[in-house]
Amino acid sequence: MYEQNCVPFAPSLIESMRSLGYSFPSAIADLIDNSISAKADEITILSEPSVDPWMVIFDNGCGMSKDELYEAMRYGSKNPLDKRECDDLGRFGLGLKAASLSQCRRLVIASKKDNKISAYSWDLDFVIEKGAWVLKCFSDEETKEYIHIEMLDKVKTGTYILLENFDRVKESTADINTTFNKNLSDMENHIALVFHRFIEEGLTIKLNGMKIEGRDPFLSTNPATQKKRESSFYVNNEKITLKPYVLPHLSKLKQEDLDKLGGKEHIRNEQGFYVYRNKRLIIWGTWFRLERKDELNKLARVRVDIPNSLDYMWAIDIKKSTASLPDMIKKNMFNAVYETVLNSEKVYTYRGRKEKNDKNIEVIWEKIKMRDGYKYVVNRKIPQLKLLVETMEPEQIKLLDSAINGIEEAFPVNALYVDVAKGTIEERDKKEIEDVWEELQIQMDYVKSKGLHIVEYYKAFMNTEPYCNYDEIKKRIQKEIENNE
Ligand SMILES: Nc1ncnc2c1ncn2[C@@H]1O[C@H](COP(=O)(O)OP(=O)(O)O)[C@@H](O)[C@H]1O
Ligand SMILES: [Mg+2]
Repeated sequence: MYEQNCVPFAPSLIESMRSLGYSFPSAIADLIDNSISAKADEITILSEPSVDPWMVIFDNGCGMSKDELYEAMRYGSKNPLDKRECDDLGRFGLGLKAASLSQCRRLVIASKKDNKISAYSWDLDFVIEKGAWVLKCFSDEETKEYIHIEMLDKVKTGTYILLENFDRVKESTADINTTFNKNLSDMENHIALVFHRFIEEGLTIKLNGMKIEGRDPFLSTNPATQKKRESSFYVNNEKITLKPYVLPHLSKLKQEDLDKLGGKEHIRNEQGFYVYRNKRLIIWGTWFRLERKDELNKLARVRVDIPNSLDYMWAIDIKKSTASLPDMIKKNMFNAVYETVLNSEKVYTYRGRKEKNDKNIEVIWEKIKMRDGYKYVVNRKIPQLKLLVETMEPEQIKLLDSAINGIEEAFPVNALYVDVAKGTIEERDKKEIEDVWEELQIQMDYVKSKGLHIVEYYKAFMNTEPYCNYDEIKKRIQKEIENNE
């Protein structure tokens, strides 16, 4: 055996790396990730659409020394398997180069640290000419030539990126100006959404002098948005947090809010999970096929927060544009969705308000006030159903839900009306106490066998029909609660 080095051929590999599938907005978002990881609080994007457009992305982050910048320019500068700072948005050590050069043929970076400016460039045509991984390095004098480079003078530390020769845009259109402008506006929308939580927390991102406003997909500051209880679960000791939201009914929203949501006609398509990795939105508007994108669910959105330490489970790709979901996490997420979706359904279909009852009792048939009258629906919160849902598989929950929907829809309103009018409805006899108790015990046996919270269930049953209608049953439940507490 003997060893032989097998170095990749630079011109071909660097060209292949351009085809990872970055879109214009996702490429620039990847550069902004780097600025955020570098603790920048102000990022400036400058660009001028023309027949030969350019773009500058400037940040006041920690900057890089010459050696650090050289490392950063190297393809695969970091090992994807390395443990990262918990707020690091990077992973593969490729974004800076691959994202930039997916859109253009020349990337120049100048960075300032310890009062020194260092500058390097990857130039595709130069790599082809040399047939090797050769960087261009610039002297201070040469660096001064670059457009808007003077911004580096105004900060203690920071990084300047210049993208030039946007060949992808040039190839795709005869009207570069218009296409580039469209790219800029798509990019602005993308940034406003993907980084909205950083923007809310004080990060400034400016495009040609104008601040980009964050787009909160949950309208969480709107008082009419229903914010559901946050829940969380652990995967390999790492916490995943879910927070469901139900958007206000569309008729209650101002144009400004509708714009934030991406326009009225897109709202249905944007329902679903919103998955954030370290507060950076990665994937959104999908139920991962756990649920249909139903008209009825269109107001439901679930915020999911995952730490970057779980990257290996989520199969984050280099562009950070897809994240696939392991089965073990699906079920937990679905339970959070179940409630949101159902509630959203109520907001949408019934557009009504629940009739209040005096005693804090969970009735089985809820009366919902509609614009022109009332509707009766089965209360999904009763413990009889909760008990089932808690131990069912997602597919079974869907079946149960369709069954209940069917029952609600088939509610014989007209027949009932006629029968009541004729006085031919027979009042049901109150059941024997022992029968009611036995029925409750069947359910409580299940609670116990599944290790669910006994007292919590007894308390819920005590305030739910039909049990709340029997004093004797309530007394017995009270005793059970005392015995178990
Ligand atoms: N704007 C920036 N400011 C400071 N350091 C940066 C900046 N951009 C990139 N870097 C450095 O370059 C490295 C490589 O970046 P990149 O190719 O995007 O890969 P990754 O983000 O996965 O580490 C980063 O890990 C970081 O150390
Ligand atoms: Mg990066």
